[in-house]
Amino acid sequence: MSHPKVTVIGAGNVGATTAQRIAEAGLADVVLVDIVEGLPQGKALDLAEAAPVLGHDCRVTGTNDYADTAGSDVIVVTSGLARQPGMSRDDLLAKNAGIVRAVVSQAAAVSPDAIIIVVTNPLDAMCHVALEASGFPRERVIGMAGVLDSARFRSFIAEELGVSVTNTHAFVLGGHGDTMVPLPRYSTVGGVPLTELLPAERIEALVDRTRNGGAEVVALLKTGSAFYAPAASTYQMVDAILNDRHMILPCAVHLQGEFGVAGLFVGVPVRLGRSGVEQVVTIELTADEQTAFDASAAAVQGLVTRMAELAAEAAAAKG
Ligand code: NAI
Ligand code: 2OP
Repeated sequence: MSHPKVTVIGAGNVGATTAQRIAEAGLADVVLVDIVEGLPQGKALDLAEAAPVLGHDCRVTGTNDYADTAGSDVIVVTSGLARQPGMSRDDLLAKNAGIVRAVVSQAAAVSPDAIIIVVTNPLDAMCHVALEASGFPRERVIGMAGVLDSARFRSFIAEELGVSVTNTHAFVLGGHGDTMVPLPRYSTVGGVPLTELLPAERIEALVDRTRNGGAEVVALLKTGSAFYAPAASTYQMVDAILNDRHMILPCAVHLQGEFGVAGLFVGVPVRLGRSGVEQVVTIELTADEQTAFDASAAAVQGLVTRMAELAAEAAAAKG
């Protein structure tokens, strides 16, 4: 049976768990890639040997060679350093920019029609690197963060109200950082706006916890960062694309004037389907929400500017 082909770059926690979800759902054949020899091959073999028990026929292979990724439908980029306790997302900037640039250039060259999903942090800045390194149109370079941040918000809402997570919908927009913008007004439980169900101070507490969702897991794990929810969120985006679901999800996209922002990756609602981003879904924001969104976009701009400065400094140091 022929399946779509998904390349997952980075065979660490997020990458391997994403590969596992994709294969076990029978969604696609997966090629795991890593710079460490043996790591993607070993994890892929282990995942392949689970297939008979789980009853799927997706192939999972591991490699250090981008030639094996040729003709991929989707490329998921998770390679890089994970955030450690005490390390900010911004600390990762220069190192991960170099990694993302290198892996995307190689993968895009052999899969020119693929859709790229960026996961590596700092997320919004890495999307810029991937857009530039691939030369792909904005519809085919998409960042994963909003699905994860919204899932965290949804899980906290469900816990607070004692309802099923399946009853909850939530939108978290903006950059994937401390300035992210959870939108209680657009978050619902069984179709009822959250603002009708909880007092303002409880909502603010859940919003705060959502903003610190990544750090809360890092503080508990002590070595490394979250990967189950990030992998599930990435899987949902891959599924929406390969199954052409036309699903509205919060994703980082290169805005071109929408929400008052141009030339910057920021998380907004988009419609995802087989061609990637089919539409940026613009929604009305209140003045306060727009101010928070603008502040988040400014934080992303700061990272992009800093990244350019670091690249210029490195080039000057080389002579
Ligand atoms: P990890 O450390 O478990 O895995 C990273 C993998 O990348 C390692 O296996 C490493 O060998 C590989 N790698 C490093 N340089 C490479 C290169 N040049 N080519 C190929 N592979 C290379 O880290 P984890 O937990 O999987 O996280 C991966 C990234 O995803 C991190 O940057 C993390 O901060 C980010 N992340 C982003 C989230 C989001 O919401 N956007 C959520 C969770 C993690
Ligand atoms: C997270 O939010 C580390 O960005 C990652 O868990």
